[in-house]
Amino acid sequence: MATHKLLLLPGDGIGVEVMAEVKRVIGWLEKVGLASFAIEEDLVGGSAYDSCGQPISEGAMKRAFEADAILLGAVGGPKWADVAYEARPEAGLLRLRKDLELFANLRPAICYPALASASSLKPEIIEGLDLLIVRELTGGVYFGKPKEIVDIADGQKRAIDTQVYESYEIERIARVAFEIARTRRNKVVSCEKHNVMKSGVLWKQVVSEVHAADYADVGLEHQLADSCGMQLVRAPKQFDVIVTDNLFGDILSDVAAMLTGSLGMLPSASLGAVEEISGKRRALYEPVHGAAPDIAGKGVANPIAMIGSLAMALRYSFNLSEAADRIEAAIAGTLAAGFRTGDIAGTGGSTVVGTSGMGDAMLAELD
Ligand code: NAI
Ligand code: MG
Repeated sequence: MATHKLLLLPGDGIGVEVMAEVKRVIGWLEKVGLASFAIEEDLVGGSAYDSCGQPISEGAMKRAFEADAILLGAVGGPKWADVAYEARPEAGLLRLRKDLELFANLRPAICYPALASASSLKPEIIEGLDLLIVRELTGGVYFGKPKEIVDIADGQKRAIDTQVYESYEIERIARVAFEIARTRRNKVVSCEKHNVMKSGVLWKQVVSEVHAADYADVGLEHQLADSCGMQLVRAPKQFDVIVTDNLFGDILSDVAAMLTGSLGMLPSASLGAVEEISGKRRALYEPVHGAAPDIAGKGVANPIAMIGSLAMALRYSFNLSEAADRIEAAIAGTLAAGFRTGDIAGTGGSTVVGTSGMGDAMLAELD
């Protein structure tokens, strides 16, 4: 069995606490022979700043480039509120995303049956939901130039953001979406607004070309982004994979994620390009939540988002879908058995546990 190089960056606050539970799950995977890892660990965020004056050291960056995948907990906290902007904890995470060119942000929205009643939508709309948003993360209106506020006549000002997409950026995110769809239910919905935006015209055209050339076996539908927002709330189970740009993806992925539950439940992946020589794809997996200073140190954080992020790493970086399935089944089983951390305590469970108690329940379920 191949040994995979995994870099753990626990970070700050509850990042450290939820990473401790992931380490136990990794230990279990190795024990039963489902996976084999060479593990390194380093600092990121405030903890790195305290150690070396930077939110990520050059040594940690080198390790990040060498790793097959990175698991990151969370960064930040009030302790570093007065640190210079460039050295603030969040800058460490942003540098990782930017330097590794992690252009594809994957946010799954899975409805665990035991939490169906926790959604703001009716259980029958949400039960069985399993969709994935693939959001372009390094281009579009958040980065396009010019980006400025300028003075114009009569004391008026003009603000400008520029939506820029080049065809290679659309092509590579489309490929990620089609590849992943093949491992799921083989259906992609591409979202843009070609009716009012030139970038939408190019988006639709490039996605269609990539589809025709290399992915004709995958189902493809184009939806206008506003209509897609409506459909996500009206009938979310129609979706398998949604691929969209940075801005629409920011909005649609928050909508989709919150259909299903708490911040403490939501994993994510950020993927880079497949390197030509090694065939390796850079990838960072992290929970959607932050360092949660309000509960840090109390041992009550929900580790499921972090553990779900490990499952995504197994699936997307290591092609270990059996191991990923086992972890996701254990999450569902633990919830079905009634175990709840504080953030999901009001959702029909019977046993409120802390972070390590949830880890215990997960390991028992895995066994
Ligand atoms: P947050 O996600 O840390 O917390 C928001 C709320 O959700 C808090 O009440 C927290 O207790 C709760 N929460 C979050 N994760 C939870 C979990 N696993 N289990 C139970 N409850 C959970 O966001 P906030 O408070 O806005 O930011 C706190 C710090 O984290 C800031 O310094 C911020 O910059 C940083 N941050 C870092 C992120 C990252 O590392 N990717 C993402 C978001 C925020
Ligand atoms: Mg957002």
